[in-house]
Amino acid sequence: MGGKRERWDSRSAFVLAAIGSAIGLGNVWRFPYIAYDNGGGAFLIPYFVALLTAGIPLMILEMGVGQILQGGAPTALAKVKKSFEWVGWYAILVAAVITFYYCVIMAWAMNYLIHSLTLKWSNWTPEGAIPANPAEGITYEGAFFNDFILRVSDGPQHLGNISTPLIIGLAITWFLIYLSIRKGVLTVGKVVLVTVPLPFVLLIILFFRGITLPGAIDGIEAYLHPDFNALKDINVWAAAFGQIFFSLSVGFGVMIAYASFRPKNSDIVNNAFITSLANCGTSFFAGFAVFSILGYMANVQGKEVAEVASSGLGLAFVAFPTAITLLPVGAQIVAVLFFLMLLALGIDSAFSLVEAASTAFSDELKINRHLTTVILCVIGFIAGLVFITDGGLHWLDIIDNWMNAWGLMVVAFFEALLIGWFFNIGHLRDKIDQCSEIKAGKWWPFMIKWVATPILGIIIVWNYINESQHPYGNGAYPEWALQQGGWGIMFVLLVLSFLLSTGGTSEFISKEEAAK
Ligand code: PHE
Repeated sequence: MGGKRERWDSRSAFVLAAIGSAIGLGNVWRFPYIAYDNGGGAFLIPYFVALLTAGIPLMILEMGVGQILQGGAPTALAKVKKSFEWVGWYAILVAAVITFYYCVIMAWAMNYLIHSLTLKWSNWTPEGAIPANPAEGITYEGAFFNDFILRVSDGPQHLGNISTPLIIGLAITWFLIYLSIRKGVLTVGKVVLVTVPLPFVLLIILFFRGITLPGAIDGIEAYLHPDFNALKDINVWAAAFGQIFFSLSVGFGVMIAYASFRPKNSDIVNNAFITSLANCGTSFFAGFAVFSILGYMANVQGKEVAEVASSGLGLAFVAFPTAITLLPVGAQIVAVLFFLMLLALGIDSAFSLVEAASTAFSDELKINRHLTTVILCVIGFIAGLVFITDGGLHWLDIIDNWMNAWGLMVVAFFEALLIGWFFNIGHLRDKIDQCSEIKAGKWWPFMIKWVATPILGIIIVWNYINESQHPYGNGAYPEWALQQGGWGIMFVLLVLSFLLSTGGTSEFISKEEAAK
């Protein structure tokens, strides 16, 4: 493709962007709750095992493949072997679907940011309805999230209308994404100078606010209190691996795309370690901020921490606003800081997903990169509309579950399997080591072949057995919705990946290398 590939301004621009992609909403709302739910302090064991045996090895693999082969996920994998290309496309398509709803969550956060100024969630009631009754578990904050922001319908069959405040938030989100990536990694390298440190500073402020509140210690105790029995549960291990991949942004083609804009001989292994450790350290730290504030809330309301810690999205959009309202002073300021932090955390993860797709399409189909970016942003905005209808939350929940369990796990498994078992991984290792400060050595191929591949395979089989015995949502969703939003979308993406991989590049790494 000639020698004109765009380049990062510097190594630090690349590393910051990789860290920005990894550190996202997942570190603040997902990690603490998943840890709490899966054995508390004991969860850290499977989490670090997952990091060392699969997270970091796959990070090295993605960064290595992208940089050495100088292409987005499909192009790079096609250069390894043409028959691997579909895995790259599947990664990109899964990433695209995730972006569609990830940006919707940012649109929610934007709405919350505006309402932070008046703490509107603390006293909003639906017109003509009975005021929220905390004794019956109906809270103002829950009602605000479900009925004011989302207007959640009674099931996925009722889509209803598109919400006006959310469509404005979604449009602004996509516009910001476009601005951040309009000149590819050149603009990305500048934007991350703000979006990576900013949430960090905000998190540190929230951490100190949190741990100095009464009851904070009970929250932290609940967060870290180990339940070693959890280690016997395979679901806990599956949760740890899932969280590691989602959090590191590995299995989406993002790291392949970002690394493809580095000169061929730059460091790989050290960068992979820096990115992974910075990400997991942030998650661990965020847990203290989140749980100290939940501990405070439990303390004020005279409840157990277990009763106030709600899962996933509820944590960021219901529990946290509730806790903030209870603060004696400066509640508005803390609210603004919190939602600003969510936005700053999310934006660089969101645009990294779009960058991965834009790199893939422009490399493979040879379309102008700026045009590709514009088209992708418009498609992303339109596709997101379904999630801001009244029934949107149901679809978001179903699709999120499938894309994680069946999207990124499958990509990660095939990356490990194909490179580890159907390719000369020693050859790739030598190339990686030639340019790296720290060497991947024998450890890396061993982990990919003998640890990551079988463990990922077992988790996929396990997820399948689990899903067939307990369909997702505990009966909350009709079967057809799971079939369409879950298996249906996954199947369509797989077919599209194979179709997309039928044309294009057919150079093999071996040929390229043989020429040397
Ligand atoms: N890693 C991001 C998070 O923790 C999510 C993400 C996944 C971003 C995949 C980009 C790619 O929130």
